[in-house]
Amino acid sequence: MPLLQLKNISHGFDYTLFENVSLTLEPKESMAILGVSGCGKSTLLHIGATLLPPQKGEVLLFDKNIYQDDDTMRLNLRRYDVGIIFQHHYLFKGFFANENIELASLISGQEMDEGLLKRLGIAELMHSKIGTLSGGQQQRVSIARVLSKKPKIIFADEPTGNLDDKTAHDVMDVLLEYCAHESAALMVVTHNQQLARACTYVNYLHKDGLKEEA
Ligand SMILES: Nc1ncnc2c1ncn2[C@@H]1O[C@H](COP(=O)(O)OP(=O)(O)OP(=O)(O)O)[C@@H](O)[C@H]1O
Ligand SMILES: [Mg+2]
Repeated sequence: MPLLQLKNISHGFDYTLFENVSLTLEPKESMAILGVSGCGKSTLLHIGATLLPPQKGEVLLFDKNIYQDDDTMRLNLRRYDVGIIFQHHYLFKGFFANENIELASLISGQEMDEGLLKRLGIAELMHSKIGTLSGGQQQRVSIARVLSKKPKIIFADEPTGNLDDKTAHDVMDVLLEYCAHESAALMVVTHNQQLARACTYVNYLHKDGLKEEA
């Protein structure tokens, strides 16, 4: 069973951003989405991640048509099964890093993974207040928070945007290994072509759909 299916999705705000976007992601598969700034990559990610009903088309998560029903189904999916790494990370600023991660673990009933914190290079930062961390450090805390929930699918919006090359590679590896181990799927927006090539599929978002070329 595919974890995610987008069928002929069209969306826009003042004008149409994209039409006829279709994709399928099976367990252990990953897809990188590239495209010029403002073409609608974040919008498309939000549509897949239960956050935004598209103007046209259908979104199936775990074979369920998610915008057909009331909010309860989407809320439950978001709490337990869908991991969203936002372009602008949303952490609780006045809290400590470990509190932010523990909160996510608590809500979903999953254990926090110490090894993961080490892999992300943030184990030593757990007792720092979020407001005192650098942008890239905060980004990795938000990734740890999402993974500690053990989602079946991850939507990541430029998760390596604030990171140096080496750390960016490590973070991408962590995400891909997570998918391999947990049979999860990953949809990731990036501007980094080299990182994108590590994914199962690389697609560019155009006005008339997803394509393999820029
Ligand atoms: N809620 C909204 N209301 C009105 N316009 C919006 C809304 N969300 C996004 N847009 C507009 O839609 C367009 C696409 O935005 P989006 O954030 O999806 O682009 P993007 O491809 O992710 O860009 P970037 O690479 O800069 O992150 C932009 O022009 C943006 O201003
Ligand atoms: Mg964006």
